[in-house]
Amino acid sequence: NRHLISAGDLTKDDALLILDTAEELARVSERSIKKLPTLRGRTVVNLFFEDSTRTRISFEAAAKRLSADVINFSAKGSSVSKGESLKDTALTLEAMGADAVVIRHSASGAPHRLANWVHGSVVNAGDGTHEHPTQALLDAFSMRRRLGNLDGRKVAIVGDVLHSRVARSNVLLLHTLGAEVTLVAPPTLVPVSIGTWPCEVSYDLDAVLPKADVVMMLRVQKERMNAAYFPSEREYSRRYGLDRERFAKMPEEAIVMHPGPMNRGMEIAAEVADSARSTIVEQVANGVTIRMAVLYLLLGGETA
Ligand code: CP
Repeated sequence: NRHLISAGDLTKDDALLILDTAEELARVSERSIKKLPTLRGRTVVNLFFEDSTRTRISFEAAAKRLSADVINFSAKGSSVSKGESLKDTALTLEAMGADAVVIRHSASGAPHRLANWVHGSVVNAGDGTHEHPTQALLDAFSMRRRLGNLDGRKVAIVGDVLHSRVARSNVLLLHTLGAEVTLVAPPTLVPVSIGTWPCEVSYDLDAVLPKADVVMMLRVQKERMNAAYFPSEREYSRRYGLDRERFAKMPEEAIVMHPGPMNRGMEIAAEVADSARSTIVEQVANGVTIRMAVLYLLLGGETA
């Protein structure tokens, strides 16, 4: 594949190749080798039209650890404010020699459109409510490092599924990898297309928790929320928040995940987020490794 736009485009072999490559790269990092010459002379452009902390910084760190040149573009402060289109912005950046463009955009489908306009590889770093494939890959990598093979593992993804590109990419990838996913959400935060997703749906978190190997909490996306269909924060937290009592219902070896940024005290209690069974900080570190693997495989560098 030349691009990474949807987790659904990855075969099981593709996904395992990315996870195994990330494992190799993690082993290299553990030997205190901080930088590889693999992508020397290549240019990676980070094109961010929406805010990001983890994804933007980890793509930058990943590209730099592979010795690529990195150009960071943020829509704020650019000519986008003067009305320049995505296409003209992309062509301008390509004229500067981008071998890969990493794009985050509020419009679902923006990375797909971009792939028609530029010659380099396009990597989707989150498009609207559609997909966030590298998040799903780093989540699968984090699960595999804690639990081993994902085949038959039970993963509960809980919360604001309606607005979550993380949920969609995770469902697609985890299904490909053989895990069994149950989405847990209030009925008003379940997408209408859910019948076509390869997963189960439940409205009852307390019933799902005792069987889960992984509980992935989603951020309540207040900025995309229509107040008309959202329960009060207190009501949401009472029914769908992972607090200490609910955490105690999970099997002892089960792990807790969250892609970040978190609403502490709302979808997840601080003491649960900070517990030893939480992978939240590991997920961030693994994000750099997974993005190194993706850039390495897309840009076809030779092994160092
Ligand atoms: N998980 C995630 O995509 O975080 P950012 O929005 O900070 O990149």
